[in-house]
Amino acid sequence: MSKSTSAFPVTIAGTGSYVPEKILTNEELSTMVDTSDEWITSRTGIKERRIAADGEFTSDMATKAAEKAMEQAGITAQDLDLIIVGTITPDTPTPATACYVQEKLGATDAVAFDISAACSSFLYAMQIASRMISDGAYQNVLIIGAEKLSAATNWDDRNTCVLFGDGAGAAILRPSAEGEGSILAMEMGTDGRHTSILDIKGGGSACPITAENLDQNLHALSMQGREVFKLAVNAMRTAADAVVQKAGLSADDIKLVVPHQANLRIIDAISDRLAVPNEKVFVNLDKYGNTSAAAVAIALDEAHRSGRFERGDNIILVVFGAGLTWAAAAIQW
Ligand SMILES: CC(C)(COP(=O)(O)OP(=O)(O)OC[C@H]1O[C@@H](n2cnc3c(N)ncnc32)[C@H](O)[C@@H]1OP(=O)(O)O)[C@@H](O)C(=O)NCCC(=O)NCCS
Repeated sequence: MSKSTSAFPVTIAGTGSYVPEKILTNEELSTMVDTSDEWITSRTGIKERRIAADGEFTSDMATKAAEKAMEQAGITAQDLDLIIVGTITPDTPTPATACYVQEKLGATDAVAFDISAACSSFLYAMQIASRMISDGAYQNVLIIGAEKLSAATNWDDRNTCVLFGDGAGAAILRPSAEGEGSILAMEMGTDGRHTSILDIKGGGSACPITAENLDQNLHALSMQGREVFKLAVNAMRTAADAVVQKAGLSADDIKLVVPHQANLRIIDAISDRLAVPNEKVFVNLDKYGNTSAAAVAIALDEAHRSGRFERGDNIILVVFGAGLTWAAAAIQW
């Protein structure tokens, strides 16, 4: 596991999020596959998720989240010099979704690229961005986690289709000014031995899409849920512990934990490990399900806008995803 802290402090100047209008409830899903609200709620905590409209792409949701983050940070698209989008559901395999976002925002001076670390992408992007800012190379960096997972879901597979949803979250990072908080510590980790337990098997060079494998739903997410569950708990616990220690915090110093929103039972295991009570852990997966790269970004924005933390408070972000990948951040707001 790599460890790092920015040499020069970097702050989060604004957050934003967007979710599509259409709500798909557990009850509606129960008419599509053999499942029930009781099963989904008791195993995951999810009650409903959002589904993007037909003509609504990942870049559209990303752009809407970005506009809100820029507004809160008090900057315009012209001020952006770097855009990083984390997604596993890009508008197109190439060019990068970040390029569409740059065009939609009119951020003509910004360099733009995507990263692919599944549900961990937003914190991977945060690490990259904070490094590039602390090097002095970039000033106003937009990081986004955005997904249209409904386009990569096998709607006949009850093991996966009940879990995922669409949405986007964004943040503006820039050098900390006097009196502003900063990112205190970050951790990232990867374990490529478990690539096959959570993946999309088709659509890449290993298995280009054909009519035959489309029929087999190889373009959709597949998952061995029980194995993913165990590894997620271990990796997130370790990463969260590490940033807390590295930032020199104790449980009492933590105002809020904002975890990846995949499963309430995974979230409970993380809060136990950190010895923080449930009211100090932010949960919105009941409304949105697992939106992969977007999940922690949407949660951060909703927690921020609803006043769950303020300037000076310490918060912990922790994520886990396909790869396997994981990451955590300790931030003084
Ligand atoms: C997927 C998950 C909710 C399943 O919960 P679980 O308690 O592990 O359930 P199991 O895998 O033991 O399955 C139990 C049974 O429920 C069934 N089942 C699966 N999905 C179902 C559904 N939507 N409705 C009803 N039954 C379902 C299974 O077929 C299995 O039946 P069987 O025992 O007859 O084979 C859970 O493993 C999980 O959340 N894993 C992590 C997923 C995750 O976080 N992924 C993203 C990481 S970024």
